[in-house]
Amino acid sequence: MAFRQMERETQAPEPDAPLLIFDSGVGGLSVLDAVRSTLPDAPIIYAADNAGLPYGSKSEAEIAARVAGLLGRMAERYRPRLACIACNTASTIALGMVREVLHIPIVGTVPAIKPAAEITQTGTIGLIGTEATIRQEYVDNLEAEFAQGKNLLRLAAPDLVAAAEAKLRGERVDPASIEQAASRLTMMASGNRIDVLVLACTHFPLLSDELQQAFGPDVRLIDGAAGIARRIAALTDGQPFARSRPDRAVFTRDEPDLAGLKNALAQRGIEDIEIL
Ligand code: DGL
Repeated sequence: MAFRQMERETQAPEPDAPLLIFDSGVGGLSVLDAVRSTLPDAPIIYAADNAGLPYGSKSEAEIAARVAGLLGRMAERYRPRLACIACNTASTIALGMVREVLHIPIVGTVPAIKPAAEITQTGTIGLIGTEATIRQEYVDNLEAEFAQGKNLLRLAAPDLVAAAEAKLRGERVDPASIEQAASRLTMMASGNRIDVLVLACTHFPLLSDELQQAFGPDVRLIDGAAGIARRIAALTDGQPFARSRPDRAVFTRDEPDLAGLKNALAQRGIEDIEIL
C-alpha cells in the first residue's frame, strides 16, 4: 500500500488533475486571474471558505485549524496536483503546518515586501493587509530580511475585504472605505513619502483601480499574484493539462449571496458551484 502510494506520487499527474486555489472568499480570484493567463489549459478548482470569512479578525489557532482541516478534506476529495493558498492571512500563519500535513506541492501567498523594497525610491513602503496578517512574525521576518534600512508602514484595512466582496457581487463599492484606508496610511509619520504600496491581502488587487485613484498616480501598487503564477508554472513544468469538465468553485457554506458571484466566476471560466 505504502509502495503503491509512493509510486502514485512520483508519477506525472493525470491531465485533468486540478490546481486547487484556496482563499477565505473571493480574494483568491486575483491569484486565479494570474494563474489563468500563465497556464490557460490548467483545470482549476477555486475554493472559498466563506463560512470562515473574514479570516483577518480570527485568532492564529482558529485560522491554522480551519485551513489545515479544509485543505486536507479538499485534497482527499478533489485530488489536486498542487494547492495554492491564495490568502496572505492563511499563508503567513499556516503555510508551514499545511506543508507538513499534505503530500502535494503547496504554494503560499506572502506579502510582496522584497520586490517593493527593490523598487522604492523614497525608502518608505506602505503595506495594507488584514489585522491578522500585519501582526505576523512572518511579516517581521520579511521586513528584517528584505527591507532593512527602509521604512515599512503597516495598516490593517478589514473594510476593504468587505468592499472587494461587494464589488465582485456587482454591488457598489463605498469610496469612503477606500479613501479612509488611504488617508490613515498617508497620515502616519512619513506616510506622505510612500511611493510603493504592498497589497498584502489577495482581496485588494480586485480594488486596484479604486486604490490607485485614492493613493494617486505616484504610488505604485504591488502584489504577489504574477510571482505565484510563475511559481506554479515552474512546479508543474512538463505536466500534461486538459479539462475534462468545466471548472468549479467550492464554498464551505451555502448562502443566498453566492448567486451574486455567478458573473464574476463565469468571467473566469468557472461555471459550476459546489458546497463542501
Ligand atoms: N484574502 C485574504 C488575505 O489575503 C483575507 C481576507 C479575510 O480577512 O478573510 O489575507
